Amino acid sequence: MSLNSTVIPVAGRGTRFLPATKAQPKEMMPLVDRPLIQYAVEEAVAAGSERIVLVSAPGKESILRHFRRDAELESFLERAGRTQSLAMVRHAGTLATVDAVMQPEPLGVGHAILQASPLVGEGPFGVMFPDDFIVAQVPVLEQLRRVHEQYGGIVIAVERVPHDEIERYGVIDGEQVDGNVVRVSDLVEKPARDRAPSDLAIVGRYILPGEIFRILADTPAGVGGEIQITDAIRAALTGLPCHAVVFEGQRFDCGSKLGFLQATIEVARRHEDLGAEFSRYLEQVSGQGRPA
Ligand code: UTP
Repeated sequence: MSLNSTVIPVAGRGTRFLPATKAQPKEMMPLVDRPLIQYAVEEAVAAGSERIVLVSAPGKESILRHFRRDAELESFLERAGRTQSLAMVRHAGTLATVDAVMQPEPLGVGHAILQASPLVGEGPFGVMFPDDFIVAQVPVLEQLRRVHEQYGGIVIAVERVPHDEIERYGVIDGEQVDGNVVRVSDLVEKPARDRAPSDLAIVGRYILPGEIFRILADTPAGVGGEIQITDAIRAALTGLPCHAVVFEGQRFDCGSKLGFLQATIEVARRHEDLGAEFSRYLEQVSGQGRPA
């Protein structure tokens, strides 16, 4: 089964990065030289998704523009003989069919996903949150797609997190069925530490069936007054199988400043042009501690 569409919500306010996100979408902040959103779209394409549906907001038009061809810029780079830059600009503009729907107000990620319904239609689709940046040998959405091929229904990505961080996440309860696959029996959004049913936290990758839209439409606001996708999946559990994949890869929470910096270092260390020099710099400054 291939995924027809992948929905990427980008309509949040990005308050943790203010003032950087006052006039610029969080999703356009670069890890070295590619904006966060591009890594997400590349991962969706690697999982065979032919079409990306961005759930966007007023003022975030630059995200969609990033994935359109720019004839003027391309011809300038061509004339200037800047072949490498030209290839990168063309790559972004031809990566996938990227469409956008609007979420007029950030009422939660569940509400954001619901806005994509007219473009997604009936079949199973992927969902990715671009601020969960994951370095993996097999792209995580592809890891989920393979599990979906076997089990159908709902498939979500989970990660073991330390006990004192669990209250920041949606958390699953369930039983291991196969290697890194857990059959989910319950989910709870941001539980108190002593109420968390496991240490398996949901991260921003899902495969959802078309039926989820009907359920989302009836899902009331939950934690934080937002319409939560976790609540809709919980409501779907009576009729649909749900499996969680303890994915292979290293995740960085790029919605937080520390996670974003760590991801930047990781991408820079691996970067084709910069990697060697940057790694030397890291060696040089490591052990120096914090500047006075
Ligand atoms: P986050 O909760 O991490 O993003 O949502 P945020 O709300 O923008 O960040 P802070 O907490 O204020 O700093 C995860 C993803 O879901 C999108 C965000 O844009 C981000 O890509 N999102 C969130 C929506 O599209 N709509 C919403 O109502 C909320």
